[in-house]
Amino acid sequence: MTYKIAILPGDGIGPEVIAEAVKVLERLRSAFGVRLELQSAPVGGAAYDAHKHPLPEPTLRLVKQADAVLLGAVGGSRWDSLPRELRPEKGLLTIRAELKLFANLRPAMLFPQLANAAALKPEAISGLDLLIVRELTGDIYFGKPRGIRRLENGERQGYDTMLYAEHEIERVARVAFEAARKRRKQVCSVDKANVLETSGLWREVVTRVAEEYPDVALSHMYVDNAAMQLVRAPKQFDVMLTGNMFGDILSDEASMLTGSIGMLPSASLDAHDKGMYEPIHGSAPDIAGRRLANPLAMILSAAMMFRYSFNELALADRIERAVVTVLDQGLRTSDIHTAGTKKVNTAEMGDAVVKALE
Ligand code: IPM
Ligand code: MG
Repeated sequence: MTYKIAILPGDGIGPEVIAEAVKVLERLRSAFGVRLELQSAPVGGAAYDAHKHPLPEPTLRLVKQADAVLLGAVGGSRWDSLPRELRPEKGLLTIRAELKLFANLRPAMLFPQLANAAALKPEAISGLDLLIVRELTGDIYFGKPRGIRRLENGERQGYDTMLYAEHEIERVARVAFEAARKRRKQVCSVDKANVLETSGLWREVVTRVAEEYPDVALSHMYVDNAAMQLVRAPKQFDVMLTGNMFGDILSDEASMLTGSIGMLPSASLDAHDKGMYEPIHGSAPDIAGRRLANPLAMILSAAMMFRYSFNELALADRIERAVVTVLDQGLRTSDIHTAGTKKVNTAEMGDAVVKALE
């Protein structure tokens, strides 16, 4: 079995961090006989610059044919004045929609070695291990109508539509309950049911799906409270299930519990576990090209790919153990650097992980 992996570096620090993940993959191939076929293609602003489109046809074809996709990051202020259809983010959103990647898994776990790099007190976060399951192909991100219209008084008005159909809620809820079964068996569903119709339906459907999982405890929480609870007492959460927009916000917030957004991987899965894997950190144009970026979120995303899409659990474990090893060695990129540890650049961190694979 040869795994076909599409490599989409994208923008900003995307190319730098994905280069380190590719080193890891190439090492698995040369030293461990893992059969991998890697093929790169442009996406986002880089694709716009080269082909005048954030998701050129050959790139879309490649991701459709691949067994899994690794993506660095997209976006940057250089492209912000383009029409929305041509912006880098549109490339990413189109892949999510075209591949039907409706379930976005964003684990936030604290590596004990990084307890001092996080913003919260070590006792609030030690042992933290939560999984955000974010719906990824619906909600206000994709709802129509949307646009900017002219009112009678001549003023312009922007509008978007928050939409969820029952089947969309049901299928992502199942992913959350299934994941909880393999963990601490708790799902907290996050919504804004005190105000929004969409959330009222969301809550009803999640409650109905929960009946199929009597061994999993379901609770509900309003999103404003969830934002507070995440920084007040994050360890109360096991699996957090939520919609696209709320999940976007809460997952960035959760990343700060773990020391750095540069540590958090993600998986976006379809109904058959085909997936796209990307760090949640985005393109970080301010540090791009300066060898400062932390490649560990990207490398951990590759580990998730072996776990979820290829069911190669031993390889996933091997990569994750290598990351733990380099942290134990005291190696830190600048985002997680604290007194008494050794500062390394992006490539040095990647090289150390490759070495630790043995
Ligand atoms: C993310 C990002 C994307 C999103 C952007 C780049 C479109 O913030 O993956 O969380 O909003 O989903
Ligand atoms: Mg985001």
